[in-house]
Amino acid sequence: MSENRTGGRTPLDRTPQWAALGKHRAELGEQHLRGLFDADPERGSRYTLAVGDLHVDYSKHLVTDETLGLLRELAAATGVAGLRDAMFRGEKINITEDRAVLHTALRAPRGAVVEVDGENVVPAVHAVLDKMAAFADRVRSGAWTGHTGKRIRTVVNIGIGGSDLGPAMAYEVLRSYSDRGIDVRFVSNVDGADLNEALVGLDAAETLFIVASKTFTTIETITNAVSAKNWLLTELRADTDAVAKHFVALSTNAGGVADFGIDVANMFEFWDWVGGRYSYDSAIGLSLMIAIGPDRFREMLDGFHLVDEHFRTAPPEQNVPLLLGLLGVWYGAFFDAQAHAVLPYSHYLSKFTAYLQQLDMESNGKSVDREGNPVTWQTGPVVWGTPGTNGQHAYYQLLHQGTKVIPADFIGFAKPVESLLPGLVAQHDLLMANFFAQTQALAFGKTPEEVAAEGVPAELVPHKTFRGNHPTTTVLAAELTPSVLGQLVALYEHKVFVQGAIWNIDSFDQWGVELGKVLAKRIEPVLLTGEGVEQLDSSTAALVERYRTLRGR
Ligand code: F6P
Repeated sequence: MSENRTGGRTPLDRTPQWAALGKHRAELGEQHLRGLFDADPERGSRYTLAVGDLHVDYSKHLVTDETLGLLRELAAATGVAGLRDAMFRGEKINITEDRAVLHTALRAPRGAVVEVDGENVVPAVHAVLDKMAAFADRVRSGAWTGHTGKRIRTVVNIGIGGSDLGPAMAYEVLRSYSDRGIDVRFVSNVDGADLNEALVGLDAAETLFIVASKTFTTIETITNAVSAKNWLLTELRADTDAVAKHFVALSTNAGGVADFGIDVANMFEFWDWVGGRYSYDSAIGLSLMIAIGPDRFREMLDGFHLVDEHFRTAPPEQNVPLLLGLLGVWYGAFFDAQAHAVLPYSHYLSKFTAYLQQLDMESNGKSVDREGNPVTWQTGPVVWGTPGTNGQHAYYQLLHQGTKVIPADFIGFAKPVESLLPGLVAQHDLLMANFFAQTQALAFGKTPEEVAAEGVPAELVPHKTFRGNHPTTTVLAAELTPSVLGQLVALYEHKVFVQGAIWNIDSFDQWGVELGKVLAKRIEPVLLTGEGVEQLDSSTAALVERYRTLRGR
């Protein structure tokens, strides 16, 4: 240990709080949720919290009052609140990039003051929001026209990672609030098939491309944007003048935008203190704002802000992001849980978990601490999941009877969206019956005795038994509104923050994506010319040779 830099901090797994949790875990042993519920008839109402419109039931977790107390002590000992306050104050808590982490400023009200390097950033945030709103209104009303004078009918967002997943997810979630006269498509993959399919059937004269890239150097995005520009100019038989009416940019890099040929007047700015995966409530949300309108977008921001304030001010016992973060730490460390499932019971949330994958896994997929020492504890889980009912007929088998501990979040809504066809409203109870049934089955299972009592032959009893004891959180809201979406996303953002703070990792950098980018750049010319293939490792060299042969090179 002597060579390790500790920043004065005791490694997590050597703290007394960690040891106390380990001892407590051993004492809990095989404690079953059935026993916990039998022992406390109030458990189902006692183990609930509320934030904004979200009702959070955490009673089906393998925790007791003692567990929760010990976890909160761990949070206190690891300085979660101090780091949180430093984040909100605009301190440069992204230490490896020397940047502030201020996505919370993106949804701060107009009059708020949040300073970075002594400058209040809130006026600039609102200036960009206002510029976005004016532009979105012009596109929505038809006042903004393309090169030939036609109004815009399709918006194509070209971006990847945080410049794609957030708006793509939110557009899907809020589709029922969107202007159905404008279609929004998302292109991210450098595989030409993605742009190809997005362009099928489009009239270039009615198409607006939004090039979304924080850095404006991301190879996938720039490649697709150049191809889109070529397509547009060919389709319109126009010269580059046409670009200004069909391309806008969302970026922190004005120079890169100008070099690409987009008028900087048509650039919507954000700042280096907005991480890519925390950016869809910035200018990166322009496609969403065009779809749902500025008012709905602002309602969403208000939802984010509500949870920000809750996270910042609620006492630990009532702090929902803190609780969810702590539960994840508990399972990762003391149940060897490697994964976390997020299972929405709303088809509109079909891209929600994919969005959370970047948020969580790019943030907390780290194996050195903030001082650069290897960590000796679990960090971020594998996050996965799709809408629940579909999952029930696919992978829930493993959740119910497999060998793994996979804590899961179930997210559902009491009311279907207002615009649902009247004939479809009745299906909502069936959807939600499944929602409630699944967490019940996961928690309580079905004992061999119960199975046998149904007359099941003895040899089949083990196969039809459900061990239960699978931990779940239930998040229930009245309905899926823009504000509720903002609340949900902020909840997960802060949950991820809590975990990163406890694990003592930098949740705001992403160096792990760099090596692949560098190697791809080296390999691309080898694919074309074959030169340098011998310098590759023997596996990659053989694969590249085979590829070249298959391509007839
Ligand atoms: O390579 C990973 C990453 O940097 C993400 O963190 C980011 O969201 C994505 O690429 C896109 O980056 P940009 O917005 O700069 O194009």
